[in-house]
Order: sequence, then structure tokens, then C-alpha cells
Amino acid sequence: MPKLTFLGHACFLLQTEDGETLLFDPFIIGNPQAPVSAEEIKAGYILVSHAHMDHLGDAYDIAARNDAMLISTSEIAEAAREKGLNVHGLHIGGSYRFPFGTVKLTLALHGSGIPGGHACGFLVSCGGKTIYFAGDTGLFGDMKLIGELNRPDLALLPIGDNYTMGPDDAVVAASFLKARQVIPYHYNTWPLIETDPLLFKEKVERQTGADCIILQPGEAHTL
Ligand code: NI
Ligand code: MN
Repeated sequence: MPKLTFLGHACFLLQTEDGETLLFDPFIIGNPQAPVSAEEIKAGYILVSHAHMDHLGDAYDIAARNDAMLISTSEIAEAAREKGLNVHGLHIGGSYRFPFGTVKLTLALHGSGIPGGHACGFLVSCGGKTIYFAGDTGLFGDMKLIGELNRPDLALLPIGDNYTMGPDDAVVAASFLKARQVIPYHYNTWPLIETDPLLFKEKVERQTGADCIILQPGEAHTL
């Protein structure tokens, strides 16, 4: 079963059954919640949803140290390639079959953090499970389509408000996505995005029937 570890803010580490390691939005240095140092992280693939510093974070350094492949939008992949990194660029709506499974880029309503680009989310299918990582995004109606077409087993959703969906919109997102399980992130890193995840859990479980798992930084969930 794939195992997902929360590394604080919007950073997750996904370990697949066949031993591959995928790192999402590795913001470690400067992240007051980070439970590990950037040097300790081992990853074969690094998925970057957009180039804001709390997502691109330490991606380049970790990719270089691990000789990892950086997966992102074409614009960010090109910027990373210019740093000498191994990259795979996709764009929204496009998917690609990697050795560990399939990655599809989804819409995210958010700035790209890089000229000309667009933020994205990721649908990752591996080991018979589909995980939706929303990236930084506001609520959008096409999450319904993502839910209908992909039936994610697990949806990772930002709930901290101000820069992304707040908890009430994230409850609507969870109902659109029809995920069996939901894990919130992008909250309580700083005072500006303080929110009570227990209130979100109570609402999302009551209104959508999904199980909500709250992970403290460093904690893991096996799908
Ligand atoms: Ni952002
Ligand atoms: Mn962010």
C-alpha cells in the first residue's frame, strides 16, 4: 500500500509499494513546521505545483542531491532544466506514465509564481490507488469533473484560507471530488493561515461521508 508522510505546510512524501519515493512541494528550509531537514530527504521524483517559495522551496537542491526527476509544468521544468536538473514537464490536462505510475496535471486556480506559467494540481495513480493533490487553489466547479472521472481514493486539500480555499470551500471541494479520504494541509504554518483542522474534519465527515485524517508534521498515513 502506498504510504504518505506529511512534512508540514504543503509537503508530502509518498512511498510506493515498489519502493519509489515521490516528494510534493518540498518547502523545508524556513518552514517552521518541518519535521526533517532538507538534507535528510531521499526522493526519486519531486512534484512541484507552482513556484511560490512555500512550494518550490528546496526542490532544486533536493533534486540535485538525489539525482531526482523534477515533475512540474513546462515553465518550471524549463527553469529547473536550466539549473542542470533532470526534469519532465507536462501541462494541465496532460498525463504521463512513469515507472512508478501515472501523473496527470490538473487545473489549480492560483498564481504560477513564474512568468507565463500556471499553477497546477496532481493526480497520481500508483499501486491501484489514485491520490489528488490540489496544490494551492481556490474552489472551482471542475473539481466535480475530477471526482467523476477519477474517483480519487484520497484528496489532499488546502484549508488555510487567505491564499487558498478556506475550510468551508474545502468541504465543498471534498463533496465535488467524492474522495473516500481527505487530508488537509496549508494551514497553521503562519498566523495568516491559522485554522482549526478539527472543525474542518467534523464538517467534512458530516457533510460528505469522507474520512478526514489530520496528520501532524512527521506523521504518515497508509492508503
Ligand atoms: Ni502559492
Ligand atoms: Mn502556498
